[in-house]
Amino acid sequence: MDQLFHAVAIDGPSGAGKSTLARRVARELHFLYVDTGAIYRSIGWYVLQRGAALDNAELVAALLPDLNVEVRYGEDGLQHMVVNGQDVTDEIRSPEVSAAASQVAAIPAVRAYLLDMQRNLARTHNVIMDGRDIGTVVLPEADCKVFLTASDEARAARRCRELAQRGTPVAYEEVLSDMRRRDEKDRTRAAAPLRQAEDAVVLDTSELDFEDSAQALLRLIRESISHEA
Ligand code: DC
Repeated sequence: MDQLFHAVAIDGPSGAGKSTLARRVARELHFLYVDTGAIYRSIGWYVLQRGAALDNAELVAALLPDLNVEVRYGEDGLQHMVVNGQDVTDEIRSPEVSAAASQVAAIPAVRAYLLDMQRNLARTHNVIMDGRDIGTVVLPEADCKVFLTASDEARAARRCRELAQRGTPVAYEEVLSDMRRRDEKDRTRAAAPLRQAEDAVVLDTSELDFEDSAQALLRLIRESISHEA
């Protein structure tokens, strides 16, 4: 990757606070925030709509030529997901789509299909990109790599609060077991599994509140970028 732009890669399991923290820090640094989970969710949503078996890699791959997934930024600076012209930003947040995203994300053809799209965003902007394989596969040359994590219990409690705020509350035990199942799938899949890049710094937010986590993340990014400059 050419070094005209800065890239920050944030990976980690679900519910560690990646997206809220990355969005907050991106605003402060005037970087573009790219939520790659939303891109996988958009594909999961589309496959559900088409009624195809999510675990059938060949069938899912055969749907890709008909699929146009776009990342657009509104005037509010927020990332919107558009699938074949339809804005699905809200639809992709349901637990059903979470499970579908985790299944399609294990399919190598889906990951290959999305690789250029993600890299192109980093070629043309300063980015903070979050996901599972950003530091290991998508942006291995990123200036700064952070592996953001927290205990299972802290992550499940946060996800519960988030779902309740969206008006779709789900019981804590259910959130915890869904989350563990999805993490296990993300960690053990053959294609680009969730793992910490060797040169990533671990940031554990179990005991940190939001603002302390944001400040810790900002510090890590500023240190890396000033070393690069
Ligand atoms: O971060 P999230 O919960 O929105 O991600 C949805 C799913 O997509 C999750 O199961 C992991 C997967 N994913 C991935 O495999 N690679 C990424 N870069 C981002 C998300």
